[in-house]
Amino acid sequence: MPLTTPTLTVSDRAAATANVDVLVVCVSRSGPAPALAASHGLPREAVAQLEATITGLGVKGAPDELVSVAGVPGVRAARVVLVGLGDRAGSDLGPEQLRRAVGSAVRSLTSVKKAAVCVPAGSVALVAAAAEGAALGGYAVTGPRGVGSAAVPVQSVTLLTTGARDAAVRRAVKRATTIGVATAWCRDLVNAPPNLLYPETFVEQVRDRAKGSGVRVRVLDESALARGGFGGIVGVGQGSARPPRLATLTYAPAGAKASIALVGKGITFDSGGLCLKPPASMLTMKSDMAGAAAVAAGVLAVAELRLPVAVTGYLALAENMPGSNAQRPGDVVTMRGGRTVEIIDTDAEGRMVLGDALALASEKYPDAIVDIATLTGAQVLSLGHRIAAVMANDEDLRGALQSAADSAGEQLWPMPLPEEMRPNLDSQVADLSHKGDRMGGMLTAGLFLREFVGSQRGDADTPIPWAHLDIAGPSYNDAGAYGYTPKGGTGYGVRTMLSLVEGYARA
Ligand code: BES
Ligand code: MN
Ligand code: ZN
Repeated sequence: MPLTTPTLTVSDRAAATANVDVLVVCVSRSGPAPALAASHGLPREAVAQLEATITGLGVKGAPDELVSVAGVPGVRAARVVLVGLGDRAGSDLGPEQLRRAVGSAVRSLTSVKKAAVCVPAGSVALVAAAAEGAALGGYAVTGPRGVGSAAVPVQSVTLLTTGARDAAVRRAVKRATTIGVATAWCRDLVNAPPNLLYPETFVEQVRDRAKGSGVRVRVLDESALARGGFGGIVGVGQGSARPPRLATLTYAPAGAKASIALVGKGITFDSGGLCLKPPASMLTMKSDMAGAAAVAAGVLAVAELRLPVAVTGYLALAENMPGSNAQRPGDVVTMRGGRTVEIIDTDAEGRMVLGDALALASEKYPDAIVDIATLTGAQVLSLGHRIAAVMANDEDLRGALQSAADSAGEQLWPMPLPEEMRPNLDSQVADLSHKGDRMGGMLTAGLFLREFVGSQRGDADTPIPWAHLDIAGPSYNDAGAYGYTPKGGTGYGVRTMLSLVEGYARA
């Protein structure tokens, strides 16, 4: 498997003599006037020329602002790229701010072979952030292409810092590579065209990728799903010529400190089914498997870092199509575990496949379950395109996810599961109706999922701690690229889930 992220190294050599094509230097706007964030031991004539460029061109130091300067005196690299850092600098500089600045610069370096980044601070957290920015920004879609030529991302990035020999810094850079590779894979899966990526080929990719990783992959095909009583997945998948799958990825290290289940929505294309979506809403629906992609990439990242936590990923894979055997509004299906659900709107398919997968995950009594799904348009309406929502039946787990997301640099915001909305899901003919009022649609979807979370072993009254991430907005970037985030699949969730598991590893 080719590495889809730049090779990262860390070095304490002088920026001026770095043997690279491009040197990246940050410009801060925290002081009285925009200026280099640090001088990085560059020779006086180089600093003078760069400062003159900043003044002369009116460089502001704003996020995503990039200026290329060729032939800087005393600098070996042919080109210096100045990148804006935004408002804070010095001891106030935040990791996400630096991650984005470095990401933005590295993203712009297509067709460049070697780059070096002057890291404007020495703390392990900031060097780590710079490394992650480089890993995440150095991505280009590796999709099918005919005679056209694809953008080629930068091949190697050296992080220049005085802390280069520090063991913690080296570990952080290795971790950044793991994050970069996992996120690139997640993005590639999301960007893959839906005629090529469907449940069976998704599973093939996962099997391929898991070889030699220490992660075991098991797959239920359509007949195993029918025999196992997975009515939600079978029902959603039955309108498509491409049968559904449920893949389980198990990473079970000896002496694990906790066991975590990660459950991902994997609708490889969401046409809406018989309740067909209008064409404009259908266009991005190849990305409706972003949750499953994040889970698959997340489990492999956890395994690669050998974290002492047992993690099982569940990928609920189906294509939601209006074929002649498609599920109808009014159908009643029996879910894994025996509960019946009345189908109201075949476009509310995500909760059906997840309900089955949550029930299966609960049967193993993990310490926590986290599901991640492009579940509702209401999520996008409430939080927009960059912020995901978290709902949970457990405050500690919700808090742990919030901290994980904050430290990973993924924006996340809490949403409630209002008890008074639960009657929306009452049905006359089945145990549950699968859709409530349009208003608060993200919350009723969360309440529906909660119904399929099992109770703790030997304690029927206490549910397994569970949290639900609705990533409908931030999983796919339909607008322009920014920071380290490309257009298309973003890889949202990979870093938050990894950080969450790292938290359990430290405990
Ligand atoms: N996959 C969609 C949700 C979605 C919408 C994701 C926009 C990303 C961007 C989901 O399956 C869906 O269709 N949800 C419906 C639910 C409704 C029918 C209850 C929705 O939100 O409109
Ligand atoms: Mn849908
Ligand atoms: Zn969907």
